[in-house]
Amino acid sequence: MKAAVFHGSDKGMKIEDIPVPAINDDQILVKVAACGACHTDLHYIEHGVPTYKKPPMVLGHEASGIVEDAGSSVTNVKKGQRVLIPAVLTCGICTACRQGHENVCSDMKMLGNHFDGAYAEYVAVTAKDVLDLPESIPLEEASIIADAVSTPYHAVKNRAQVRPGDTVVIFGCGGVGINAIQLASAAGGYVIAVDINERKLEWAKEFGAAQVINASTVERVSKAVKKMTGGGADIAMEVIGNPKTIEEAFECVRIGGRLCVVGYTHEKMSVVAGKIMFKELEIVGSLGCRPVDYVPLIRMVEQGKIDLKRLVTHRFSLDEIDKAFEVMKEGSSLRSIVVP
Ligand code: APR
Repeated sequence: MKAAVFHGSDKGMKIEDIPVPAINDDQILVKVAACGACHTDLHYIEHGVPTYKKPPMVLGHEASGIVEDAGSSVTNVKKGQRVLIPAVLTCGICTACRQGHENVCSDMKMLGNHFDGAYAEYVAVTAKDVLDLPESIPLEEASIIADAVSTPYHAVKNRAQVRPGDTVVIFGCGGVGINAIQLASAAGGYVIAVDINERKLEWAKEFGAAQVINASTVERVSKAVKKMTGGGADIAMEVIGNPKTIEEAFECVRIGGRLCVVGYTHEKMSVVAGKIMFKELEIVGSLGCRPVDYVPLIRMVEQGKIDLKRLVTHRFSLDEIDKAFEVMKEGSSLRSIVVP
């Protein structure tokens, strides 16, 4: 089969012919319909973040497809079925899983990180983890539910806990942030979107932001937010992964408010600890989503509350995969999908 094989941070990806993956009794072979290009992949490709499986390996963790073959013990899906493959597969037996926190499973296995992913014609996954995709949802665009939509769903609903009437400032209007805007707005929040790219801010308005701030044109975003909200937002969400913007998001929150960190950085951040105490602030993190979140999320897509078609701004063949990361770096895409 054709696959984009990743050879390491300094060497990039090459289109190669490799064997179709073999499946175990509890696995299925999925013919990949599409795989979304995520910023996390760029961390592996360009920023030296290591993958758990040593290269050469196949990246790509945001995939949908059609079941091609099933192992002998598989009972939940059958050949020809349309499925969504979650980005992270959980063990179901560790303490975190047993306590309902499968998204932070201590034995989690990420597609295109721990094992070969979906920038390929076929991918092998455990059958128990995949979700049925109703016919009404377009199969290729559905791939982005696996991360770009599900990560902000968990963040907005379970961690930031946006409620009707909440003022919510969202830093970062990229593939994940735009969906945080869409979902926070669907939850009844009054959303203020922050970015440094005017095109992203235009998209933010189209996806539900009531107001926008271009961070590169104001002295302090927190000052602008305090003015717009009369003292600070109820909730701030950081969906970039930069210590400076996490610190600025913290400054945007009103007394009794909540900061939710969705963006990933390995660097330290610095805030005045006394403010957490005096203002009774909450700081929460959010990682991925739990299996239980996919069912209502897929329902929201079916009901038209999440518009996948508008979110996918670019599509590329496997041969053109590098272009997906070029448009991401340029900031001219919302989400690109790679269609093998
Ligand atoms: N201030 C405001 N916006 C910024 C700044 C800044 N200083 N720096 C970057 N941005 C904006 C970019 O213009 C872009 O619109 O942040 C957005 C980041 O979007 P993407 O590159 O598309 O990244 P995305 O895939 O959305 O992921 C964002 O979420 O899940 C995590 O690991 C993921 O850390 C990553 C984060």
